[in-house]
Amino acid sequence: MTTARAHTNIALIKYWGKADQKLMLPATSSLSMTLDAFYTDTSVVFDADLAADTFILDGVAQTGAKLVPVSTFLDRVRALSGRQNYARVTSVNHVPTAAGLASSASAYAALALAASRAAGLNLDAAALSRLARRGSGSASRSILGDYVVWHRGTDDLSSFAENATVSPALDLRMIAVLVSDKEKRVSSRQGMAATVATSAYFDAWVAENELACQKMLVALEAGDFTRVGELTERSALMMHATTLAANPPFTYMLPESLALVQYAQAMRADGIPVYATMDAGPNVKLLTTAEYADEVQSRVTAKFGEQTVCAAPGPAAHILED
Ligand code: PMV
Repeated sequence: MTTARAHTNIALIKYWGKADQKLMLPATSSLSMTLDAFYTDTSVVFDADLAADTFILDGVAQTGAKLVPVSTFLDRVRALSGRQNYARVTSVNHVPTAAGLASSASAYAALALAASRAAGLNLDAAALSRLARRGSGSASRSILGDYVVWHRGTDDLSSFAENATVSPALDLRMIAVLVSDKEKRVSSRQGMAATVATSAYFDAWVAENELACQKMLVALEAGDFTRVGELTERSALMMHATTLAANPPFTYMLPESLALVQYAQAMRADGIPVYATMDAGPNVKLLTTAEYADEVQSRVTAKFGEQTVCAAPGPAAHILED
């Protein structure tokens, strides 16, 4: 049995929309921070006695639509390794599931590492990121720690994640504000497919966000927090604009999400360096510096009464037990 841990990540430059559904190639490159506070532990064992793959998530045996994608992912590992047996997969999520904190990222990154190792493969980070990508796009970035760029690429080989170079002057924190723990109604997969197919803003998004990713690499290397923050907030708001311009329009924002985005702007007016980002759910994440993290958390709790969790850059996916 092999157990792996992978941490989730939050994109500073968002992935939103596929260029190729089958290969899971994204329409744009994206860039993220891996978070120390949220992770998934997954154990995999291939067993000749099993008549089918099994998947237990947080102690509950999964069936049907929850089991099929895991089994399909294992088929890819079997094809890569030549391993024939079915597998027993056990996962524990230390991430609020499906509330926009990207548990699918840590889930498929942990599964990619645990399953490939259990099948006898020894893949490097780039190869693991390609494998994880097939489970969930953002999972490609959770293979690596700290700051990660996922190059969109044009085929399976060229679409992979690697570390971005970041100035040691930048000591960033991501504060997750838990606006709602309820399961989201439109999954990221459905949301992006609807956006690609119908959003009037999709082409503009692709052009701007790809440029933004290049600008972000420069800003991180230069250690320019203001620029990093501005690019982060704009990528998120552009992504959410594409859903508002879909047909029919939809949004992941709740009234409180927007209030928090505006509150980040208000805190900046008070001289606090903080910028907002959001994914496919109502939670808002606030990007700030280590120096200001406590102040941002106490201000947000005082004003909104919501639970916050502060995350620092986290480690790459790694094996816990082999
Ligand atoms: O990989 P998925 O299907 O979970 O998509 C993730 C999409 C966003 O979280 C909204 C943005 C991102 O880059 O993580």
